[in-house]
Amino acid sequence: MSAPTVAVALDMSLGESPVWDAANACLHWVDINRGLVYSWQPGGDDAPSSVALGEPLGCLALGATGLIVAARSGIYRLDPGSGVKALIAANPEWRDESGNRFNDGRCDPLGRFWVGTIDAAEALPSASLYRLDGERLTAMRSALAISNGLAFSPDGRFAYHADSPTRQVWRYAFDAERGTLESGELWIDLARHDLPGVPDGAAVDSHGDYWCALYGGGQIARFDRHGAFLESHALPCPHPTMVAFGGADRKTLYITTATQHLSDEEKHHQWPSAGSLFAMSAPNPGQVEPRVTR
Ligand code: BGC
Ligand code: CA
Repeated sequence: MSAPTVAVALDMSLGESPVWDAANACLHWVDINRGLVYSWQPGGDDAPSSVALGEPLGCLALGATGLIVAARSGIYRLDPGSGVKALIAANPEWRDESGNRFNDGRCDPLGRFWVGTIDAAEALPSASLYRLDGERLTAMRSALAISNGLAFSPDGRFAYHADSPTRQVWRYAFDAERGTLESGELWIDLARHDLPGVPDGAAVDSHGDYWCALYGGGQIARFDRHGAFLESHALPCPHPTMVAFGGADRKTLYITTATQHLSDEEKHHQWPSAGSLFAMSAPNPGQVEPRVTR
């Protein structure tokens, strides 16, 4: 395993939601605060391209064609080439230009899109985690402050989810057919492992290990399928936000990072590569990211 190094030097405010499109050998990610969707084919000569959405957006998933993006105002189908978008469902927590924006999300193994929101002050339990079916959003968890860390085990039996300020990741029995989160249990408690920061975005590899970005903790932590801490990998910046396995063998771990919450001194002198896309080699391949088909 190599240490994380800069894959694409960027100055993102809140890089997030890397997703590897295996069929097109392309990595997509977003800058939430700047409302940008990036697309990049590693190994080629081309720099990443980006399209501006005109509003913040929390995350993306792969569509049957193009992308599904969860912007502040709602969930859209997006053609990342042209920037043309079409509304699928409005954000129930965003009315009259105020409220909570969408945050972390992911496609489940049966092709349904799940996406959570973030309390506008990142403190009150006003956010929820939703499941999208066609054009309908159903709240599946509520009373959250910052919905994050959503991922599924390779056998599809478990869903993992974090409400970041609690510093905990919960594991739910996932009923894939019904698309429901059954009996939940506390699975990872950063306090118990003496790990810094809060759990942000995550990805589960094909062996079932949970790789989680510790926002404010400057590292990626790896836990096994039982939630036991295995190791962590330090980054040269405090705010990694999410990870995705990519590359031809899906054994490159891509890591997005943020510069928000950093002072000018920290950003320019202490952590000059903050806001970049990082990459490191991983021991096990990632799962193939499913496409939203429902
Ligand atoms: C949110 C950020 C937040 C971070 C840490 C991210 O998912 O988008 O706004 O600061 O989590 O909780
Ligand atoms: Ca996140």
